[in-house]
Amino acid sequence: MIIAIDGPAASGKGTLARRLASHFSLRHLDTGLTYRAAAAAILKQGVSLEDEAAATDVASKVDFAALDRAALSLHEIGEAASKIAVMPSVRRVLVEGQRRFAKTSPGAVLDGRDIGTIVCPDADVKLYVTASPQVRARRRTDELNSSGITADRDAIHADLVRRDERDSTRSDSPLRPADDAHLLDTSKMDIETAVRKAVGIVDSL
Ligand code: C5P
Repeated sequence: MIIAIDGPAASGKGTLARRLASHFSLRHLDTGLTYRAAAAAILKQGVSLEDEAAATDVASKVDFAALDRAALSLHEIGEAASKIAVMPSVRRVLVEGQRRFAKTSPGAVLDGRDIGTIVCPDADVKLYVTASPQVRARRRTDELNSSGITADRDAIHADLVRRDERDSTRSDSPLRPADDAHLLDTSKMDIETAVRKAVGIVDSL
């Protein structure tokens, strides 16, 4: 079984994906971390974020078994990730690895921006998770504050809107719901309600 979950930054799709994977005993891949890992390596090596050939080389060496969420959560890394994510050859090498992950037994939950449209168009279930930009900015700010990082909600809001814009308007694999995706707006839901609804959608198929 493959469950594809897409949506904008801080929509709650990551938490939902982890919870669904655990509920249905599937493996989980946060594909955003694969873009973040490539971006972090590029920043570390001092390679230009405009150099597609160098970025592709770095992306081809990302180790999917060693993605460290905490280390990759920095704001600058997310910003750099969305810049290299517009490059078709970077996407090609990361998508290859993501498809390999999805096809490995017993199946997987993948979350990202293009899972239902490009990475796993034949997924058994597709969810598109959204929430208003205000709610997403509040959640991300609370998340950062609770991990000891001082965060300004207005700055986070501006950043999310900018990143959504870049992710939705790029020509290769833009963020959009697949035609057969189930839409889940979590603006007025807590995580337990969102998980219950998502499990209900999967069980009903
Ligand atoms: O989900 P997360 O915020 O960690 O993703 C970081 C960036 O990676 C996104 O803003 C997006 O540009 C890119 N990304 C993507 N396709 C995916 C997952 C993430 O383009 N499937």
